[in-house]
Amino acid sequence: MTLSENTKKLQDFIKSTPNPEDIPSEELHSLYQLFIDTIVDHNHLYYIDAKPIISDVEYDELFSYLKLIEEYYPSIISSYSPTQALIGQLSDGFQKANHKTPLLSLENSYNEEDIRDWAQRFWKIAEKQWITKWRYLMEPKFDGLSVEFVYQDWKLTQAITRWDWRIWEDITANVLMIPCMPKNISVKSELHFRGEVLMPKSQLEKLNKERESRWLTAFSNTRNAAAWSLKLLDSAEVWKRWLIVAIYEQLLWEPQDWEKLWLPTFNLPERFRYTEEIDDIVKWCLDPQVKQFLEEQDIDFDGLVIKVCDIPNDTDNSKDLGLFSEALPQNDKKSIREILWTTEHHPRWAIAYKFPAQQASSQIQSIDFQVWRTWIITPVANIDPVQLSGATISRVSLHNFDFIKTKQIKNKDFVWVQRSWEVIPYIVWSIKERRDWSEEPIVAPLFCPVCWWPITNIDIHYYCTNPKCPAQIKEKIVHFASRDAMDIWWLWESVVDVLVDQNILSSVSDLYDLCDIRKQVILRKFPNFWERSVSELAEQIEASKTKPLWRILNALWMPNVWKKIAQDIAHYLKEEKADSLDKMLEALWDDKLGELFWVWNKIINWIKLYISNPDTLWLLRSLEQHWVCFDATREEWWDIEEQAWDKEHFSLTWTFPISRGEFVKQMKEKWYVYDENPTHTTQIMFIWDKAWSKADKAQSLWIPIFNEWDEIQKKFWIETTTPIQNKTKIIQWWLF
Ligand code: IVH
Repeated sequence: MTLSENTKKLQDFIKSTPNPEDIPSEELHSLYQLFIDTIVDHNHLYYIDAKPIISDVEYDELFSYLKLIEEYYPSIISSYSPTQALIGQLSDGFQKANHKTPLLSLENSYNEEDIRDWAQRFWKIAEKQWITKWRYLMEPKFDGLSVEFVYQDWKLTQAITRWDWRIWEDITANVLMIPCMPKNISVKSELHFRGEVLMPKSQLEKLNKERESRWLTAFSNTRNAAAWSLKLLDSAEVWKRWLIVAIYEQLLWEPQDWEKLWLPTFNLPERFRYTEEIDDIVKWCLDPQVKQFLEEQDIDFDGLVIKVCDIPNDTDNSKDLGLFSEALPQNDKKSIREILWTTEHHPRWAIAYKFPAQQASSQIQSIDFQVWRTWIITPVANIDPVQLSGATISRVSLHNFDFIKTKQIKNKDFVWVQRSWEVIPYIVWSIKERRDWSEEPIVAPLFCPVCWWPITNIDIHYYCTNPKCPAQIKEKIVHFASRDAMDIWWLWESVVDVLVDQNILSSVSDLYDLCDIRKQVILRKFPNFWERSVSELAEQIEASKTKPLWRILNALWMPNVWKKIAQDIAHYLKEEKADSLDKMLEALWDDKLGELFWVWNKIINWIKLYISNPDTLWLLRSLEQHWVCFDATREEWWDIEEQAWDKEHFSLTWTFPISRGEFVKQMKEKWYVYDENPTHTTQIMFIWDKAWSKADKAQSLWIPIFNEWDEIQKKFWIETTTPIQNKTKIIQWWLF
């Protein structure tokens, strides 16, 4: 059985037998061995090959179950169990070192409940010892290689790291080659520190470029790059890797030496935050700005560490040491850390808070094809739901067939899905190691999944060119009714769905039949179409007939014509005295149109193509027959709609699949104004997560909020490029 098959078997087993008590006794030993072997193999993939095939959550699930088995059946515990030792492969060539302090790792927490639960547990211990006062320290959790540094006689004498929880490796020669490593200190006595050796992200990028040029495999992350760099046998090479060091704890401490000590280590503004309230800690941990701040640094962090410290007394002048988190205990008293002490594996005085996973593995269950107003058919993968950055993700866009080909994605594949707080989820790669031959290639459909019209393929995109495709009819009607078009508020998406599915609407012009009282009688029979909504809908449709011309132009989904351009064209038409549909069409053919600042040639060609299309002409005529007013010379509406000429302001709280800068640029091109923070002038707000402070502010100011990328893209005509690697412009193919 392959590792992937074993993993699957164990995952199924955990699901079917959540309680180890129910394990049939004859299976216990072989199952226990299988857990050990499987986890050890995953450790190898993670630590040695740097290419894990399961997510942290899946790993934790296996590991926790193994621990459960050992709790129920302590007699079977094997010294080879990964709970007892991290059985990795020792790299040769280094001396095995002894270390004086037990190696501890930190317990992990993932949410508010975990943090509070940890606090409750140590409160109980503290209470028993009559300790009532302490403070908390929060600091970043560095994602590098954990190293113990030993100083003696003013010098760095030893640096040790581990592969195994008992055996440490002496890497002193290499650590001495780290440029920022403090090699001397102002203290004679023996001091031990724990810290992390890190590779800056910018350095990883450079290193990988260089490696790729030499056909060497790139490092998958800064942690692995730092770890492997420290394990180079040629110390001189280490120098060239530009590693850095962050020290966060003193072990075996000797208080009297503190003041004299100075170590220049990694600096970060606000590296330490103190408070006496656990509520503050919870707030900071969950604050997306904290995470965002850390993400913006040149160093990788994988969470935060919360530590308990004594409150320094006033006479104690050691509190500004900065580097070290622990304040001195009073002479006659034990420090809170000494009182809480440790469990077998973790200190009780600290806990790691892991940021919500941004990557998880999941399995593709099926592929859907979604039809857009732009006629493009997009493949979408339905995946087993996974929790990512606090949201449950069950559908991921596959963008186009080029993407599928590049990423070699198959139906039923296990895939790594990524989503940070701000960005829409996407597939990073497919996990080929987990294939079992049941995967199927993803083939483009021959017919539109909605109307069964034959599909046209142009380079990487597939299109349904049927102008009567219900999917497109719906999209077009929704756009026609939208705020910047005809502003028919009652026609939201679910209403349009019903009306199109029930064959009441098959084109935009059918909307105007809804003003007919006989149609309204039919409408009232549909669920949720009560009396008032039907009559209000009819009123709004009626009112739309005399809406300003720019709104009509914007509503007609003319290619590349959006609000600002529609307004410019309407202005032009007014000046040309176009007071009817015929005059309008004539003026749109006129070369003078090209003199407008905003309407450049590409758009003119699109407009000409659009108005020469028989379907468009039929639609325009039919709107005219329904008394939709195409008179551009109506003076009065310029004044009424004066406001529409003001630039609209927008603000945002998230970066986009196309990067924040690119998004803001595109919006600015469309004459929107970017407000750094939402204020009373802000009219539009783009957000991802409503919990964010900017979003709260926007809500308190009653600013409309957009938080669906698909919707934003459609409404504001944002051109996307596929988020990863190949930046193929999505072409808008409108007319054939
Ligand atoms: S304090 C238990 N503080 O995270 C030893 N550890 O999962 C004292 N780590 O291997 C830990 N940043 O090496 C502490 N600011 C920080 C840290 C940190 C990263 C590492 C530590 C340990 C791992 C625990």
